[in-house]
Amino acid sequence: MRRFLLLYATQKGQAKAIAEEISEKAFAHGFSADLHCISESDKYDLKTETAPLVVVVSTTGTGDPPDTARKFVKAIQDKALPGDFLAHLRYGLLGLGDSEYTYFCNGGKIIDKRLQELGARHFYDTGHADDCVGLELVVEPWVDGLWAALTKHFTSSRGKAERIGALRVALDASRRMDPLKPELLHIESQVELLRLGDLRRRDPEERGQNAVDGGRSSGGVGSESSLTRSEPPLSQAALSTPAAPPEYLHVRLQECPGQEESQASVTSVDPIFQVPISKAVQLTTNDAIKTTLLVELDISKTDFSYQPGDAFNVICPNSDSEVQNLLQRLQLTDRREHCVHLKIKEDTKKKGAALPPHVPDGRSLQFILTWCLEIRAVPKKALLRALVDHTSDGREKRRLQELCSREGAADYNRFVRDERASLLDLLLAFPSCQPPLRLLLEHLPKLQPRPYSCASSNLSHPGKLRFIFNIVEFLSHTTKEVLRKGVCTGWLAAVVASALRPDVRVSCAEGGKAPAPEISISPRTTNFFHLPSDSSAPVIMVGPGTGIAPFIGFLQHREKLQEQHPDGHFGAMWLFFGCRHKDRDYLFREELRRFHQCGVLTHLKVSFSRDAPVGEEDAPVKYVQDNIRLHSEHVARLLLHERGCIYVCGDAKNMAKDVNDTLVEIISKQAGVEKLEALKMLATLKEEKRYLQDIWS
Ligand code: 2AM
Repeated sequence: MRRFLLLYATQKGQAKAIAEEISEKAFAHGFSADLHCISESDKYDLKTETAPLVVVVSTTGTGDPPDTARKFVKAIQDKALPGDFLAHLRYGLLGLGDSEYTYFCNGGKIIDKRLQELGARHFYDTGHADDCVGLELVVEPWVDGLWAALTKHFTSSRGKAERIGALRVALDASRRMDPLKPELLHIESQVELLRLGDLRRRDPEERGQNAVDGGRSSGGVGSESSLTRSEPPLSQAALSTPAAPPEYLHVRLQECPGQEESQASVTSVDPIFQVPISKAVQLTTNDAIKTTLLVELDISKTDFSYQPGDAFNVICPNSDSEVQNLLQRLQLTDRREHCVHLKIKEDTKKKGAALPPHVPDGRSLQFILTWCLEIRAVPKKALLRALVDHTSDGREKRRLQELCSREGAADYNRFVRDERASLLDLLLAFPSCQPPLRLLLEHLPKLQPRPYSCASSNLSHPGKLRFIFNIVEFLSHTTKEVLRKGVCTGWLAAVVASALRPDVRVSCAEGGKAPAPEISISPRTTNFFHLPSDSSAPVIMVGPGTGIAPFIGFLQHREKLQEQHPDGHFGAMWLFFGCRHKDRDYLFREELRRFHQCGVLTHLKVSFSRDAPVGEEDAPVKYVQDNIRLHSEHVARLLLHERGCIYVCGDAKNMAKDVNDTLVEIISKQAGVEKLEALKMLATLKEEKRYLQDIWS
């Protein structure tokens, strides 16, 4: 059997799932995949590897390789490695990313570029899959094409001779260990920025549609269709629906004694602190479009510490009513207290099958659905494929097949992915579908803790940690009438409501009252959004909406530092804040005014997107970037001549991209350079950690 090495660098499990799918398919194509997580460096050795390498790499943060790839990236970036260190290696790489983020697929690009620099060569073109329009649009054809590329690689005798020769060279080289000149990695990402700049100007609907059209022919699953119906229907023969992934779990439900179940021990390997809410405030008026809440936690009895700009994780459960609905739909309500025991099916065809690490053994079914599984996750096509086999009604079955077929990609995107449908939505829409519990445990990902930025400074609020959030609300997929709340924010809103009850004690002084509700939090290890170490450096903060959170922490911190060091040299602080209405959602209005009046905040520029426009010099100011543009000269001077730092926090999808485009535009204008040169200058700022983004979509 022709062996290839298959590595995955995964953050949330997507790259792993794709690599596992490749591994499963390999056998049928006459290959054997040697599958490993990229972090398992003791299981493979690229320096001596003679088989082709296939890597699936996801992207995290603002363009970083996933945490599991950190050690690998550090190893290949060793500057002492000679330029032909991997000259013997032939590889194919599949990068995963989201073009809503500035550095699309950058995790894969970093690895790809470095492998090339070390002499490795592609046996198959790199694929860049975009979660924004559906990973499968690239993943599926890329995986389909992989087999022909591998076959070609193995049959080409020239390739073989080349590899042997190259291996010799590499071995010689590794003996010599010539130091390698460090090279700037960023030009490619600049071109990417330009590409994204072009994409951005197109209508998002159009963008999705164009990409999708590439994956399916016209006709077939029509645009007038709905989740449960396609117009006109596709004939069964016209569908290319890959087989459902093999089953691999055996589930035993057993009556077990009632147990006190705390979520803390199962959801994370990081330390978890259970802390009481000491204060909760609604920051917006009741007629604001979104409700923003501030929560203050008492962390004085923990050793949890933070710096302004840090984020931390909130561990949240799924909505109880959704868990009960799911149990009911699975006909398992009367067994919800039963303990779940899993083992791998003896006759499974799934290679390397392992128990899902996020499902603890011996916990009750209700506990697992509440604390361990992301039951709101948008069902992947593999799950849809598995559901087909458990659907009895012919029409429903065929529609499910359509949705997970290549021809149905547009419908899947439109009715499942874009609508954020959940498994429960599908089960409600397809009443004859009756999946076993096993299927959920095999397919639903881990319920992830949700990150929030700290909105306070420990200097001004010792022993306290504040954060803010919008209550996320959207209409349920199936009925379009039920208002659903975000998993975490909906739960937090309910907890906060209980903390606000008059009979609840939120301070030690209020003896006799019920104790304040507690929530579980854990520190995040990847904090980077910090004030410059040189306090004389000018700081530009851009944070509309809840993006203001870290900047409140920055300002509180700076205020205390200025009080402690009255003779210190403190740089200018600019804040570009934006909200919809001056009187409804101007978060921290009084606190910001105070910072401005006392001189901590030297420049406060606020834009209101839905009030009557006010503009200087005929330029209407609607968004933060309009204000940035109005102050182009200052912004460019601070960044280019005064070693200033710019921080952007908030929505990644539109705001951060538009702000980035505006910065390119003003740097280009103010420095009198071409757009590409301005992009490079901005990339240099990023490299120097003077342009930092804490953004989310
Ligand atoms: P809007 O919803 O009225 O369009 C906080 O959410 C603020 O960010 C709101 O005022 C919102 O305006 C605004 N916002 C929306 N899209 C934006 C974008 N592309 N750039 C900057 N701000 C934006």
